[in-house]
Amino acid sequence: MEEKTIKVHLSNTKKAKPAADQLEFGRVFTDHMFILDYTEGSGWHSPRIVPYQSLTLDPASIVFHYGQTVFEGLKAYVTKQGEVRLFRPEKNMERLNRSNNRMCIPQIDESLALKAIKELVNLEKDWIPTAPGTSLYIRPFIISNEAYLGVAPSKTYQFIVILSPVGAYYKEGINPVKISVENDFVRAVKGGTGEAKTAGNYASSLKAQELVSNEGYAQVLWLDGLEKKYIEEVGSMNVFFKINGEVITPELNGSILEGVTRNSVIQLLTHWNVPVYERKISMDEVYEAYKAGLLEEAFGAGTAAVISPIGVLAWQGEQMKINQGETGEISKKLYDTLTGIQYGTESDPFGWTE
Ligand code: COI
Repeated sequence: MEEKTIKVHLSNTKKAKPAADQLEFGRVFTDHMFILDYTEGSGWHSPRIVPYQSLTLDPASIVFHYGQTVFEGLKAYVTKQGEVRLFRPEKNMERLNRSNNRMCIPQIDESLALKAIKELVNLEKDWIPTAPGTSLYIRPFIISNEAYLGVAPSKTYQFIVILSPVGAYYKEGINPVKISVENDFVRAVKGGTGEAKTAGNYASSLKAQELVSNEGYAQVLWLDGLEKKYIEEVGSMNVFFKINGEVITPELNGSILEGVTRNSVIQLLTHWNVPVYERKISMDEVYEAYKAGLLEEAFGAGTAAVISPIGVLAWQGEQMKINQGETGEISKKLYDTLTGIQYGTESDPFGWTE
């Protein structure tokens, strides 16, 4: 029988909380964490909140060698009235199970995972920063911890949730970033793991990121793995282009991550009667639009940065300056509306917060 009661073991010590103006992304962690174990035959069991601590893992654990692991990212906010809010957390739990399916990790009880997140966040409520642009980042993840060097799915796992008070993901915040179109490396291929939130996708992106950052770019724009023609993502975010009054984002094709912010942007634009299309979009099309003066805005969308406008897009020796390198109108409106809903300063017509 599945246990749903979460045991709580409180920490005897409390860490000092960072000052609001010193918050970086993902460097500081709260006092407690959540753990759930999986054992073949018994399923997921022993849900517990424990003091934040290091893990003891066998060096032969499958996760270290073959990367059988998945993760999620979502945020908690506290409103002016002191209420704790999560943004569309059930979407993250659904995606977690889709990633699990791709990585041969057993399905998790989404309601138990969500209950665990809520209990942990409530316990750590005092850690939720309140300054504009800050929040409590929630990182649920699953690791395969069977000690076995054969290439096979693990028979044991841990689902863990840690929390981190965060500031802006990019030091630029909502200010536009410089992006370089990546022509050598690819992030994902058809039939690969691109649509799963799994560590390998991020590990394989590091080299391209390292090379362009030496040239002053914040991130790369990823093209498809076959023809290097169609646009897929930007850095670790989904990407949108506004061309001649219409907003276009690459359609989900198996190699693109289905972002919660991506979905929210599409719904908001539809609500505002801004034409929005999910379809293939090539770099040639973007370049032609730029040359014709029709490339109005481009931006990344993700949980960590929310909306990150692209000020400069470098491709084949050309530096395309988008919207004079300034934050565009739609990018700003999306950022303000999404964060307004998240912080509870805007009404939430979609019922996205809970
Ligand atoms: C996001 O944009 O939310 C991401 O997935 C980035 C994360 C890996 C830090």
